[in-house]
Amino acid sequence: MESIVISGGRRLRGEIDLQGSKNSSLPILAATVLVRGVSVIHNCPDIRDVDAAVKILRHLGCLVKRENDTLIVDSTEISCYNIPETFMREMRSSIVFLGSVLGRMGIVQLSSPGGCEIGLRPIDLHLSSLRSLGYTIDEAHGSILCRRVGDISGSVISLSFPSVGATENAILASVISKGRTVILNAAREPEIKDLADFLCSCGCRVEIGSQGTVAVEGVDSLHGCEHWVIPDRIAALTYMAATAAAGGEVLIRNVDTSAFLSVLPLFEGAGCEIKDKGNSLLITMRRRPIAVRDIRTMPYPGFPTDAQAPVMTMCAVAEGTSVIVENIFESRFKHVGELIRMGAEIKIEGRLALIDGVKELYAARVQAQDLRGGAALVIAGLCAVGETRVENVRHIDRGYERIDSVLQSLGAEIRRINDE
Ligand code: EPZ
Repeated sequence: MESIVISGGRRLRGEIDLQGSKNSSLPILAATVLVRGVSVIHNCPDIRDVDAAVKILRHLGCLVKRENDTLIVDSTEISCYNIPETFMREMRSSIVFLGSVLGRMGIVQLSSPGGCEIGLRPIDLHLSSLRSLGYTIDEAHGSILCRRVGDISGSVISLSFPSVGATENAILASVISKGRTVILNAAREPEIKDLADFLCSCGCRVEIGSQGTVAVEGVDSLHGCEHWVIPDRIAALTYMAATAAAGGEVLIRNVDTSAFLSVLPLFEGAGCEIKDKGNSLLITMRRRPIAVRDIRTMPYPGFPTDAQAPVMTMCAVAEGTSVIVENIFESRFKHVGELIRMGAEIKIEGRLALIDGVKELYAARVQAQDLRGGAALVIAGLCAVGETRVENVRHIDRGYERIDSVLQSLGAEIRRINDE
């Protein structure tokens, strides 16, 4: 097991090259299963969740090679259609392989992904989308078996909630079909468009409408292509929250600021100066953050739930009282108890967090319990007086490419240690 140790109190200064998007890489890697050929995926982050996706691809029969931040996936031959429980347990978002294996093989078997640290993570919308397309689904003893009986001739799928994963699975399960599928109330996250762009490069037609509608023109097969994964908007917001909390000036390169325009005013209201240059962003914080009155996590383009924990740490050291409402996941406040151990003054009422900013946090030994909550604790360590030890760093390594090295390059006094 590894921990990250931070000696706080230093401002951040320097430049970072932003990693590729975890939440775009995963569905695109799953989509390569639909391709009878070689896909070259650039800007794939070196993170544990991508490693888990590669393990599944190899289990299915794909040949996968990594060359720096490029993954070359040869999915000419797919030899099996089941995803073992160990893989599903290792990474809950393996559920995104459901649609692509089903689309390629006409059958898929996997264990129910189960919940995770942030919530129950149901998949009812995924399964109802597949049923709308004409697939049969048998669920028993924690296992799911989906099959194509007859041709998939396109359908209209109406999602009761703009679920990112359900939208991705509905798209992936309708690509190999004999008709047009329209998904209503689809997720609008930038990662959906990136998946659509990849599939279009492979010979399919996926149109993203303006009102959360996605249309898929089915094809018989897909050919390989070369694709560049979009930058990770959540990693960008995480490093912005770190700069806002610790103070300093950081240039983030290879970013697409259009993916989080709606969040920039929040940082400016907290006292940050932002210079938005489109594919790079300069954030400067010369003062203690100002409290943010009203943050509500919402589906895109609203405030992203994945940025809630990092931004909460900024609020924890702000001047004044901030309010955060977590509308997307039912237990995404696991980092709060650990922040309170560091001197934060936070009260939780259901999905609402009331944060009374304190002048400074103090160092403590804390435990990461999920990906974004773990990042929030590292940011807290940057602001705390003394040496903070964040344990269970494997959670953070799921989605952030060497977060300790990135922050060290910005002048933080931070190191990774092996607990053994
Ligand atoms: C994706 O998860 C992301 N993961 C999450 O990022 C992100 O927080 C989430 O979208 C919301 O933006 C990946 O892309 C790999 P949802 P996903 O389906 O697809 C409910 C991170 O930290 N729901 O949009 O699972 C669900 O319970 C991770 O990078 C149903 O009720 O999110 C939740 O309340 C965490 N039934 C809400 O929808 C369903 O069938 C949003 O879930 C599916 C979802």
